[in-house]
Amino acid sequence: MVKNGSSVYLALVHYPVYNKSNEVIASAVTNLDIHDIARCAKTYGISKYYIVTPLEEQAVLVKKIIRHWTDGYGAKYNSDRQRALELVDVKDDIAALVEDIEKKTAKKPKIIVTAAKKYAKSISYLDLKEVISSRGDDYLLLFGTGWGLEKSIISSADYILEPVIGRTDYNHLSVRSAVAIILDRLFSK
Ligand SMILES: C[S@@+](CC[C@H](N)C(=O)[O-])C[C@H]1O[C@@H](n2cnc3c(N)ncnc32)[C@H](O)[C@@H]1O
Repeated sequence: MVKNGSSVYLALVHYPVYNKSNEVIASAVTNLDIHDIARCAKTYGISKYYIVTPLEEQAVLVKKIIRHWTDGYGAKYNSDRQRALELVDVKDDIAALVEDIEKKTAKKPKIIVTAAKKYAKSISYLDLKEVISSRGDDYLLLFGTGWGLEKSIISSADYILEPVIGRTDYNHLSVRSAVAIILDRLFSK
């Protein structure tokens, strides 16, 4: 739960994303993204962290990793990690996770997408913070993998967040870094 009772959800999308040749692919799930983004999500009060992949064997792998750290030896070994990994769930596609959220909250979350590129209708961090703190909606933050979210995901979103721009023209943040910076800009005390 973040400001004014709004719930914010976060998803790491592995399909549809682009590869280096701008083809639409399903990218591979990485163990680091599961752990690091879960710990970030827990730190900033994100209600749930969804891993989106249509690939059955990848989904099985993610569920195994979650079980290890929430029920298995990992949970005994590191209860702090357990608390973070308890936030994680796996869904086939974005529609399925929106449905999951709606079932729980009876509210359709507003979708916020992120990208390294600025779009005409990109919203600033300050303006989005204002939106989140003033309206009682729930929000779903989408992060991509590979070379970014497929264009229909970007164009169908309620909000496109401005890119994180550093002090140089180098613009190749890892998604884990982008998540950390963006959650801190939007939800830090
Ligand atoms: C490796 S990046 C893909 C970078 C890709 N060129 C793009 O336009 O998003 C994977 C994800 O990290 C996030 N990301 C990477 N750089 C970002 C930036 N500068 N600002 C905001 N989000 C960023 C986005 O969610 C992106 O889909």
